[in-house]
Amino acid sequence: MDNSLKRLVVLISGNGTNLQAILDAIANSVLAVRVVLVVSNHKTAYGLQRAASAGVPTLYFPLKPYRDAGRSREDYDADLATQIGNYEPDLVVLAGWMHVFSPVFLDRFPHRVINLHPALPNTFSGTEAIQRAYAAYRKGEIATSGCMVHYAVPEVDTGQVITQEIVPFKADDTLETYEARMHEAEHQVIVAAIRNVLA
Ligand code: GAR
Repeated sequence: MDNSLKRLVVLISGNGTNLQAILDAIANSVLAVRVVLVVSNHKTAYGLQRAASAGVPTLYFPLKPYRDAGRSREDYDADLATQIGNYEPDLVVLAGWMHVFSPVFLDRFPHRVINLHPALPNTFSGTEAIQRAYAAYRKGEIATSGCMVHYAVPEVDTGQVITQEIVPFKADDTLETYEARMHEAEHQVIVAAIRNVLA
């Protein structure tokens, strides 16, 4: 194990194809970093299996017990920041993480939390961005969409942009074909952003 490598903690909520793109880039020597922890807020997130297959430690950290105990989002954010802090990350990567972090979390890792979003800056923030962009294209409201990685701030899916890529619509696109192309672009953009930030 090369201890001089930069340390990444990756947060996911689902399939984890972007986590896989990061792990593949490491395996192929495209990225010289170590993923020291993968966190999921969902127990069944397939990304947890991807992490385990790559020998990466995992942490399942759900919000529900906090809600059930009447504790706040800030309590959850503070405890998760402490857990992640124990792994001394150089960079925290939100790769399909579907919680919005409060300053309680973000202030623990200043300028070290980046977020992937499947839309261009200042468009379609929040969930189901690809579906909403595709619907807007079909209605003739937009001509293109894309994806980006940006520094995370408390406002959802905004913050200084690190990398972005336009993903053009094609006349015969279905939501499924467009979504597949968007995910391919995301897998490039997330790796480029990590290289960029850690360079
Ligand atoms: C990605 O499309 C990512 O951009 C999106 O969740 C998906 C996760 O896919 N994130 C957001 O919408 C954040 N607002 P994955 O689990 O296969 O990497």
